[in-house]
Amino acid sequence: MTEDAADADADATGTAGGDAREPTPGGDPRRGTRFGTRAVHADGAADPTTGARAPPLHQTTSYEFPDADVAADRYALADRGHIYSRISNPTVERLEDAIAALHDAPAAVATASGMAALDALTLVLAEAGDTIVCSNDTYGGTTTYFASTASRRGIDVEFVDTLDVDAYRDAIDDDTAFVHVETVGNPSLVTPDFDAIADVAHEHGVPLIADNTFATPALCKPGEHGVDVVWESTTKWLHGSGTTVGGVVVDTGTFDWAAHDYPEVAGPNPAYPDTDFSEYAPDAPLAAAVRYRSVRSLGDQQSPFDAWQTLQGLQTLELRMDKHCENARIVAEYLQGHDDVAWVTHPGLDSHPTHDNASEYLDGGYGGMIAFGLSGSDDADGPEGYAAGKRFCEAVDLASFLANIGDAKTLVIHPASTTHAQLSPDEQADAGVTPDLVRLSVGIEDPVDLLADLDAAIAAATSDDVTAATPATDGGARGGDDA
Ligand SMILES: Cc1ncc(COP(=O)(O)O)c(C=O)c1O
Repeated sequence: MTEDAADADADATGTAGGDAREPTPGGDPRRGTRFGTRAVHADGAADPTTGARAPPLHQTTSYEFPDADVAADRYALADRGHIYSRISNPTVERLEDAIAALHDAPAAVATASGMAALDALTLVLAEAGDTIVCSNDTYGGTTTYFASTASRRGIDVEFVDTLDVDAYRDAIDDDTAFVHVETVGNPSLVTPDFDAIADVAHEHGVPLIADNTFATPALCKPGEHGVDVVWESTTKWLHGSGTTVGGVVVDTGTFDWAAHDYPEVAGPNPAYPDTDFSEYAPDAPLAAAVRYRSVRSLGDQQSPFDAWQTLQGLQTLELRMDKHCENARIVAEYLQGHDDVAWVTHPGLDSHPTHDNASEYLDGGYGGMIAFGLSGSDDADGPEGYAAGKRFCEAVDLASFLANIGDAKTLVIHPASTTHAQLSPDEQADAGVTPDLVRLSVGIEDPVDLLADLDAAIAAATSDDVTAATPATDGGARGGDDA
């Protein structure tokens, strides 16, 4: 297909997976090409020593110094070679370069998990006495991290209504370290108005941070909408097969740290007094601070093997996201028409409260996530739909009842009794977790089989005879895991 034809096709279907920038023949295929090409080539060039086409797995702790001067220079950051794999590793670096390229960003740092990415960026941006302004529609683990973990380091959080731009303005003050939102909130699936929130944050001289886990760069590059730092759990769609926990911090290079008070990123560094990261790495100083201050000191780097696994997942990212989005649309429409489904929400449905924001900020589809509630006429002992939601999770067969999302397989969970059970009822309500909510991460199976499984599970969960909801596996609710 020619570029023009491809553009026309993309416009006609509304499912263009990437941007339309001109390819750069002969250049680095990770930059300048269309998104799908970039994803396939994201793992880099053939190994120059052996010719191996797949990325080598550098399972090593350390790297021989050629001589004492180079060793000293590496410790002083004057020579950029590797020292020790807690700080950097060639395989992990390939993943970092790949994800940065997919975001059109200058640099990224991979971490052991999504939560480690959040902790790593928070460590360099906020200190005791600072406040973080965070949208309400946030993953339960992030809410708990800000409210109960960062708070132990003297950092406060103020949660605001995700869609109320004035609430962000009112909450930001001189102590605000950053504003935090999710591209598509977990599990409410609310998409914020990035441009408006970025304007408010920047008017006050603070960066906007976004958790882009649900969208991945295949659907949204938040840096194009005023976001200064993106973080993602690579555990989910970026990897795509549910084998590997990981995270990444992406520095979009847009924020002028030196113009504001961020001493870890701009200014003589407490650990490297002769180094100012805004001069050492002017394109991506936040990434340098995350690597040399957080990851180096906290030890929350990604392992080479995990990075190697995730590099393989990235190759099929565009294809998988297309299929996740298509299947989610089919399932959402099916649920919408089902008599025993009390409500269903998916960013692609016109009825979703932030369908317009999702249409503006997501490109190529609305993601693979759905939330819905079952009518629960037999829930005499609990809130409407609560027991039916739990029974549904036990009754699925093809889908798996577990605490993950973004797998090739369809996954279900009942957040009120598991992922969000540690939040108070008010906090659950603020996060959009109603007692009946079932979270569905739609996989890439054939939708015919998927709908058959969901249909049978709904019938079992809403049947008057509740014994019909026989657990499909020996797994029950695995409460307490906040994935
Ligand atoms: C939206 C979102 N962000 C971050 C995380 C945390 O990622 P990880 O489990 O890789 O630490 C999760 C986990 O489920 C999530 O759903």
